[in-house]
Amino acid sequence: MPAFTHHIFVCCNQRSTDHRRGSCDPDGSDALRNAMKDEVKRRNLAPLVRANKAGCLEQCEHGPVVAIYPQGIFYGGVTIDDVPRIVEETVVGGRILEDLLIAEDCLNNRDCPHIRGVRPGATGGV
Ligand code: FES
Repeated sequence: MPAFTHHIFVCCNQRSTDHRRGSCDPDGSDALRNAMKDEVKRRNLAPLVRANKAGCLEQCEHGPVVAIYPQGIFYGGVTIDDVPRIVEETVVGGRILEDLLIAEDCLNNRDCPHIRGVRPGATGGV
């Protein structure tokens, strides 16, 4: 079988509601991952495109996070409403959605200006 053309990792990490880094899936429902999986199925993109549940992708402050490999695209602030256009534009069309793209300067950067100790909505300490 050929390699995946797109392997979509949807962060489903759940932490306590007061965790300073927040969670991509605070209610543990896997709703975003399920929506992505359903869209891939609806578009008949399997088996070359696969949507998987992932643990923390270490970009928590930008969550909910979706990573697409082998392209190495990281999207942040992803909602269920974004799923169809991620599949249509990025997976099928090969286009980057600039409004969702986590800036290169922010990826794996502990000095990222978005890391200020508290994610919007979170209340806990370090
Ligand atoms: S909790 Fe989703 S990237 Fe860390």
